[in-house]
Amino acid sequence: MSKLRLVSFLLSAAALYGETGASAWLRYAPLDGPALTASRQAVQPVLSVLDSSPIAGSARDEIIRGIRGMLDRVPRLESGIPQESAIVIGTLAELQASAPTWKLQKPDLIADGYWLKTVTVGRNRYTVIAAINERGLLYGSFALLRKIAIGEPVLQLDELSNPYAPVRWVNHWDNLAGTIERGYGGRSIFWDAGKVRGDLSRVSDYGRLLASLGINGCSIDNVNADPKIMSPELAPQIARIADAFRPWGVRIAVSVDFTSPQKIGGLPTFDPLDAKVVEFWKTAIDKLYQSVPDLAGVVMKADSEGRQGPSAYGRTHADAANVVARALKPHGGLIFYRGFVYDNHMDWNNPKNDRGRAAWDNFHDLDGKFDDNAVIQIKNGPIDFQVREAPSPLLGTLEKTNEALELQITQEYFGQSKYNVNLVPYWKDTMDFDMHAKGAGTPVKALAAGKVFHQPNSGFVGVSNIGLDDNWSGNQLSQGNLYGFGRLAWNPDLSSKQIIDEWTKLTFGLNPKVVDTIDAMQLSTWKTFEHYTGPLGLQTLTDIVGDHYSVNVEASEYNGWGQWHRADAKGVGMDRTVATGTGFIGQYRPEVAKVFESEATTPDDLLLFLHHVPYTYKLHDGKTVIQYLYDAHYQGVEEVAAYVQQWKALKGMVDEQRYNQVLTQLEYQHGQAIVWRDAVNVWFEAASKIPDGRGRVGHWPGRVEAESMTLAGYTVQDWGKPGIDPRGIAKTPAPGTRGAPVGQPGPPQAGAPGRGAGGGRGGFGASPPAEDASGGKIVVCTAGAAAPCSASTKYTGVAGTYSLNVEYFDTPNGASHYRLFVGKQVVDEWVGDLRLPSRRMDAGASTRHTTEGVALRPGDEIRIEGKPDGMETAALDYLEILPDKN
Ligand code: GCU
Repeated sequence: MSKLRLVSFLLSAAALYGETGASAWLRYAPLDGPALTASRQAVQPVLSVLDSSPIAGSARDEIIRGIRGMLDRVPRLESGIPQESAIVIGTLAELQASAPTWKLQKPDLIADGYWLKTVTVGRNRYTVIAAINERGLLYGSFALLRKIAIGEPVLQLDELSNPYAPVRWVNHWDNLAGTIERGYGGRSIFWDAGKVRGDLSRVSDYGRLLASLGINGCSIDNVNADPKIMSPELAPQIARIADAFRPWGVRIAVSVDFTSPQKIGGLPTFDPLDAKVVEFWKTAIDKLYQSVPDLAGVVMKADSEGRQGPSAYGRTHADAANVVARALKPHGGLIFYRGFVYDNHMDWNNPKNDRGRAAWDNFHDLDGKFDDNAVIQIKNGPIDFQVREAPSPLLGTLEKTNEALELQITQEYFGQSKYNVNLVPYWKDTMDFDMHAKGAGTPVKALAAGKVFHQPNSGFVGVSNIGLDDNWSGNQLSQGNLYGFGRLAWNPDLSSKQIIDEWTKLTFGLNPKVVDTIDAMQLSTWKTFEHYTGPLGLQTLTDIVGDHYSVNVEASEYNGWGQWHRADAKGVGMDRTVATGTGFIGQYRPEVAKVFESEATTPDDLLLFLHHVPYTYKLHDGKTVIQYLYDAHYQGVEEVAAYVQQWKALKGMVDEQRYNQVLTQLEYQHGQAIVWRDAVNVWFEAASKIPDGRGRVGHWPGRVEAESMTLAGYTVQDWGKPGIDPRGIAKTPAPGTRGAPVGQPGPPQAGAPGRGAGGGRGGFGASPPAEDASGGKIVVCTAGAAAPCSASTKYTGVAGTYSLNVEYFDTPNGASHYRLFVGKQVVDEWVGDLRLPSRRMDAGASTRHTTEGVALRPGDEIRIEGKPDGMETAALDYLEILPDKN
C-alpha cells in the first residue's frame, strides 16, 4: 500500500471510529464556514520536511493526516526549500543550512520547544515549524494542527513555545496480568497474562496522543511493582513497547520493586548499602539498557502501603534512591522515588497522629542527600488525591533535591469513570498556590519545575487514566483530564478556561452553543463534585476501605489509614494546628503557616482539613458549618441536574453515539448525587442533632419508601440507625484493613442486614452504612420468594404528568429485571446490568431509574415488579413521584 493510500485508509477508519471517542482530541474533523475558508487560504498544500529522523517522519504524516481531514486537501511532499509557498519542518540548523537567506535564529528556543514562524520571500509564504531537536518538530506540528482545528488564524505566525519543565511524564498503574490498579478505561494496553501484548497498535496510538500534548515519558507498570518486571525474559518484550512509542518521542520507564535484589537476584538481602545489592542494581539496569537504550528511568515506591523499603535495614530513602540512581547514571536515566510514604497502621485514638505529616517528616531532613538524577515524586496533597487538600508542604520544602508534582489523572476519588469531573481547575488550584518557599512568588508549579531552586530534573507526572476501551478512559469526558494534564505539564500558566475550551473544540467541534455549554459545564464540575461529596476540606467522603467510590462518611474513621475527618457529636475536622493539633501546619513556610494556623484566616474550602470546629462555627459569610454542609449537598445535586438539561439542549449538535453516552452518564451521576446528598446529610443530622434549617433533610417530597409499600414476595431489610457508630468509636483501630485488592472479586453479598460484627463500617466484608438506604431500610426479593416480587402503592396526589423515579440496587453479580406498572399497564421496564464499582448493596450500587411523562390520577396503583437474577435480589429503596420537568 502506498503511503498516501495508507493515510487515506487511516483517515476513513478514523472517520468511522471517530465518534466512538477513539480519536479523542485528534479527530481532525472537516472544517466548514469561515474557519475552512481562512485555513485553506493560510495553509499551503505543499510540505517539505528537512529532518530525516523517524520522529520528524511522524510529524510529516501527522501534518498530512490533519490537513486532509480538516481541509480536504492532499499536501504534496517536496524536499529542500520548495520554490512555492509551503510548510517547512526542520531544525534551526537544517533551516540555516537549506535557507541561509532566511537568517532564522531563535536563541530562546530550548529542547522540545518549537517556533512557528511565517517567512515571506517574494510571492511565496512559508509556514516554518522550527525546533532544536526532533521532538520539538513533532510538538510544533501538533501545535499548528491544533490551531487550525480550533479556528485560530495561522496566516502570519511568530510563536515560540518552550516547555515549562523537562519532565512531563505519565505513570501507569498497570499490572503485568493486564488489570489496572485504579484504572477505569478497560484493561492494560501494554500487558496481558504476565506478558507484553502481541498487538501494540493501541500503544502507538497512545504515543500519538501523548506526543500531541508534549508528554515525553511513560512508565509502563504499576508502582506497586511486580519484581518480575526485572526478569530477563521480559526485557525484549519491554523493548517492543519502547519501539512503539519511539516515533512519538515518548521514552519509557519501569516501576521497580525495592526488594528485587532478593526476589529476582536471589540475594539474601536488599540492603541498599550492601555491595552485592549495589552490584545487582548495576547489572540489572545495564541489562535493561541493552534492550532499551533510551530508557528514561525507573519509578520506585518503597516503605509505603505494605511495600518493603530501606527501613527494613535502618537505611534512609536517600540510600534507597541513590543505589538505583547510581546504576542509572551512566545511561542518563532518572529515578522517580515516591514521596508517598506513610504509616497505614496509625492509632486513630491519638489526636496528635496525622498521616498528612508523613511525606515532610520522611523527606525534609534528607534534602541534599539525593543524587542529581533522583527525583522525589510528590502528590499534590499530603493525603491522597482527595477532592480538596491543602498542597503538600513537602513541595515547598526541598531546596537541594529534584522534585516532581504527581497528579492523578485517573479519577480514583472523583467518581471513577462514572462521574463527569474535569480536574484541570483542581490541579491549577495546587499549581498556583504560593508556597513562599523563597519569599512571595514561588507557586507550586515553579517549585515542581525546578525553577525556584534550580533543580534540572523536575516537572510533572500524571497517573494515567487510559486502557483498551474504545474511548480510552471509560467514558467520553474523562479524556479531557488526560488532555488537561498534558497541556498543564507543558504550560501551567494556561488558564483552566483556555485548556478546557481547546479540548471541547477539538473533541466536539466549533459550534458555539456546544462549545459554550461544554466549557461552562467542565469548568464547574470539580466544585460541583466537591459540593456533594466532601465540602469544606472534609475530603472525599467515600468508602476509603472499600471501593473508593461509594459514599461512606465513617469509612475513614476508626482505622489506621489516617484519612480521618474526626466528625463526632459536637464538631468536625482535623486539628492540624501547631497550637493544639498535630503540628502539620508548622511544616509550611511561616507565611503560609500563619494563614492556616488561624481558623479566621483559613479559607473556608480548607477549614475542616486544617481545623476541628463545632458544627455551629460560622464561615466567612456567617453561615454555620452544619448548614453549609446541608446546603452544599443540595446545591451539588441541582448543579448535576442542570448538566443533564444543558446536555439535552445539545441534541442534534453532537454525534448521536457520544451524545447518548454522555447523557446516560450525566443522568446516572444525577441519581448518584442524590444518594450522596441524602447519605451525607442524614449522617450529619443524626451525628450533630442539629436539623437542617431549611427542613429538607429527612423530608423528601414525593418519596414513598419501599418498606412502606404493599409487598408481595419482597422482605424488608433493616440497615440500622444512621449516625455515629458507637461500636466504631469503641473499637481499637484495626491495623490497615483495607478491602480486597482491585481486580479481585469481593465476597458474595446478598444484602447482609445490620452492621458488621466487628464494629466500624466499610470494607467489602462489612455491612453498608445505614444512611446508604433511605429511611435505613430496603426491600429484597430473596431466593425463597416466588419471583417476581412486587411493591405497590396507591397514588394520592393531584392528577397530572409525573416522573417516576425508582431507586434500586444494581450489583455486579446479576442482572435483575424490573417492570413498572400504573394499574395494569406496563409503563417501563429495565434491567439492572450496570457495571458499577460497588461489590455489595450500598450507596455506590444505589441507582435511579427515571420514567418521565407518566400520567397519574388519584387512586392509581403504582407497582414495581422485580425479578432477581444470580446473586442480585432486585432490591428496592424507594419510589419518588416528582412533577415532570418536560
Ligand atoms: C492510593 C491508591 C493505591 C496506590 C497508591 C499510590 O493509595 O489507592 O492504589 O497504590 O495511592 O499512589 O501508591
